[in-house]
Amino acid sequence: MGARLFLLLLFLTTSSAFTPQDNFLISCGSDSSSEVVYNRHFIGDSSDKGSSFLSQGKSSSLKNPNSSSNSAVIYSTARVLTSASSYNFNIKKLGTHLVRLHFSPFTSRNYDLKNGKFGVYANGISLLTIFSANVTVVKEFFVMVDRDELEILFTPDDDSDFAFVSAIEVFSAPKDFFIDSVGIALISPQEISEFKQNISNQVLETVHRVNVGGLLLTPFNDTLWRTWIPDENFLVIKSAAKVARTSDPPNYQQGGATREVAPDNVYMTAQQMNVYNGSLVNHFNITWDFPVSSEGAMHLVRLHFCDIVSVSLNMLYFNIYINGATAYKDVDLSVLAFRRLASPYYIDFVVKNMRGSGVVRISVGPSDLSNTMKKNAILNGVEIMRMVNYVPPSPPKSNNGGKWIVSGCVVGGVLMLSLAVVTFVAILRCKKRKQKPKTRRAESTGWPSLRVFGGGSSHATISQGTALASPGPYGYYGLKIPFSDLQLATDNFDKNLIVGSGGFGTVYKGVLKDDIKVAVKRGVPGSRQGLPEFQTEITVLSKIRHHHLVSLVGYCEEQSEMILVYEYMEKGPLRNHLYGSNSPPLSWKQRLEICIGAARGLHYLHTGSAQGVIHRDIKSTNILLDENCVAKVADFGLSKSGPCLDETHVSTGVKGSFGYLDPEYFRRQQLTDKSDVYSFGVVLFEVLCARPAVDPLLNREQVNLAEWAMEWHKKGMINEIIDPNLMGQIKPNSLKKFGKTAEKCLAEYGVDRPTMGDVLWNLEYAYQLQTNERPREEEQQATDGDGEAPVVVPLRREDIDGDRDYDGGSDISTSRVFSQLLTNEGR
Ligand SMILES: *[C@@H]1O[C@H](CO)[C@@H](O)[C@H](O)[C@H]1NC(C)=O
Ligand SMILES: *[C@@H]1O[C@H](CO)[C@@H](O)[C@H](O)[C@H]1NC(C)=O
Ligand SMILES: *[C@@H]1O[C@H](CO)[C@@H](O)[C@H](O)[C@H]1NC(C)=O
Ligand SMILES: *[C@@H]1O[C@H](CO)[C@@H](O)[C@H](O)[C@H]1NC(C)=O
Ligand SMILES: *[C@@H]1O[C@H](CO)[C@@H](O)[C@H](O)[C@H]1NC(C)=O
Ligand SMILES: *[C@@H]1O[C@H](CO)[C@@H](O)[C@H](O)[C@H]1NC(C)=O
Repeated sequence: MGARLFLLLLFLTTSSAFTPQDNFLISCGSDSSSEVVYNRHFIGDSSDKGSSFLSQGKSSSLKNPNSSSNSAVIYSTARVLTSASSYNFNIKKLGTHLVRLHFSPFTSRNYDLKNGKFGVYANGISLLTIFSANVTVVKEFFVMVDRDELEILFTPDDDSDFAFVSAIEVFSAPKDFFIDSVGIALISPQEISEFKQNISNQVLETVHRVNVGGLLLTPFNDTLWRTWIPDENFLVIKSAAKVARTSDPPNYQQGGATREVAPDNVYMTAQQMNVYNGSLVNHFNITWDFPVSSEGAMHLVRLHFCDIVSVSLNMLYFNIYINGATAYKDVDLSVLAFRRLASPYYIDFVVKNMRGSGVVRISVGPSDLSNTMKKNAILNGVEIMRMVNYVPPSPPKSNNGGKWIVSGCVVGGVLMLSLAVVTFVAILRCKKRKQKPKTRRAESTGWPSLRVFGGGSSHATISQGTALASPGPYGYYGLKIPFSDLQLATDNFDKNLIVGSGGFGTVYKGVLKDDIKVAVKRGVPGSRQGLPEFQTEITVLSKIRHHHLVSLVGYCEEQSEMILVYEYMEKGPLRNHLYGSNSPPLSWKQRLEICIGAARGLHYLHTGSAQGVIHRDIKSTNILLDENCVAKVADFGLSKSGPCLDETHVSTGVKGSFGYLDPEYFRRQQLTDKSDVYSFGVVLFEVLCARPAVDPLLNREQVNLAEWAMEWHKKGMINEIIDPNLMGQIKPNSLKKFGKTAEKCLAEYGVDRPTMGDVLWNLEYAYQLQTNERPREEEQQATDGDGEAPVVVPLRREDIDGDRDYDGGSDISTSRVFSQLLTNEGR
């Protein structure tokens, strides 16, 4: 009883989420005043309350003599209309209304409803012509009602003499269901003016509504009592797609899609590229064919997206193709969906099918912007709506035969008209064909910012350049700085401005002419010692930019000087905030944030470029903090490009810092990105215990932090050796996660260590365990050895803001390696 009440309450609260202002539910031919279907009350049109909806005209009510108990109650009766007759509704809220007409034919004494043939009009606009239903059919329309009455008129065709209808729903659509200022980009000026119509003025008939990667959703599950069907049968190559699913509700964001646009369930499943199909080949599209009438109709195609596949922002870039043409290039959901993962978004396209084509073909495929190893593309939902009253314009009297200009440009001859983006592509293609191909710049450099009309959930401005690693404030190539500028910036290398010194030389604080604070690292003048490191640093840093990597402002090579100029990091090395200085101790939360930031920078270094870069000298003095304690990885002098695809390591003379050095690298002189992971593990323990990686003054067993901490960790007593400043601050679960992550990093063999991507997830998780932010769960990941939820984390604001570069994700083998690692309790 209690449980039922609870269910009922739950049900009431979920279903009352959207309450249409106008809401008419009619069970035709019924004299019941309330027939309940999916908790909605239909009024019989033969009942006292319901009869007022029917206007003049001849009609009668019918009862299915043989109605089975398991069919919906509203289908057990019908109204037969033997002359033009209408239902009339008083509309309180002008605007778009949903009109759903149910037809469930049966045979009675006088009528076989299957034989009815008729037309249906809404305020004079034809919805259905020569219509008949031999099975149960629900027709759904979006109708703009611009006066206080909606008349739905049924007119029997001459050769059948009757129309019928089983049920009618009329209710107001949610606000802004179709965004009005839709500028449909047709290429020729005539059509542009033709289509200066608003989408909401169009009568739309739902043709397909598909929950991609998901199950059938009934009106019971949907906020607007819609039905969503699975996508399997529309997939052209089934094996190209793989279902992605999450159990967490989406992060709806202001300006994005709402629950009414599509229910949670649509956004909680998707199809993604099936790239793990035994090979790494990931250059293909996922394609769906949706049958439509072959009569050259205009369709509104609404695509739903929600990035439930990425573990961090800026991992997913893909292209959308409709009918073979590029409809949206380099979709970046991180940006579109307000820098949140799992945040629902939709994009509307207007598509005109060529006469005879018979399908709308939708493909998603990887963008060139994606990281080579982890291309992916997703789709969560599709709706295709036919513009019922769209009348194709009469052919313009132009000299090229009145064809759409775009048709010559689109491969396959299928005509597709869509957003400005498409237009742009088409124009570019046209231009490229007509003119000599001039340069490739137009494609790779940013196009001007494009306004995406009706562009989905918001009037988003999409700049094609956003996703590209931007040249940064100083540009990639204007890196050289005159020596005189640096003299000026540092008061001629004033000793008082020295902020550090190291193997390479001395570091000064300086201020460039444009008031930019910089750190100026000057090699010993005249000495060419360190030249290779100097050059490596310039090469690496001029190619790579990331929020969590210290950026190179410029360099100077004049007068046998070797000077590197970096962004100034106000708070200096992490180490100084851990021990050996007077800095106030960092809180556990701050330490976690710093570790997460550094992990993210390192992760980007490993995966962000085609080859990947191995840092080789990760330590607490090479992780710098800016004025907000944002961590950035510095000092790339020893970095090496990672191994090529078919190699597994780089052979090299052992370099690095004592105490942080990967033992395997030391033994085999083979460098992989797992060497950085090892060093990072040492840093993690350093952060936890606030002591140097190597302290020769301590007892023998304590000298080496890695060994000592591992010893205590294995004993399950890591809490005995943590920084006394942290006592009582760390939640046990957070400490456990952190310690375990550090332990994994220090595994003897590289293959047993996690990737930086895994480390990042786990640190984020430790953070959430500390701060009580609810961790997200990704079902697809193997579960952690001790049953903890694997970690997928929505990024926090402070990590995201200003981080314009794309963050590499974990590579393909990540989860496998990590789960293997987790089940393998050996070190
Ligand atoms: C009633 O339905 C059953 C099975 O659905 C069918 O066998 C039977 O012929 C039907 N009777 C009438 C009168 O249509
Ligand atoms: C219903 O009619 C369509 C054509 O109008 C026909 O293709 C289909 O087979 C019919 N279905 C049944 C169950 O009679
Ligand atoms: C489209 O909508 C806008 C604002 O809602 C309105 O000003 C404009 O007149 C409409 N255009 C047409 C063709 O109805
Ligand atoms: C959808 O509703 C049906 C009842 O019609 C229910 O059985 C099913 O579990 C629901 N599905 C989801 C995904 O909520
Ligand atoms: C996936 O694997 C199956 C079976 O090995 C194969 O038939 C199919 O073509 C593969 N699909 C892709 C997209 O590689
Ligand atoms: C995806 O489909 C589009 C349109 O048909 C095509 O141009 C593109 O080359 C395809 N991409 C891949 C990777 O096959």
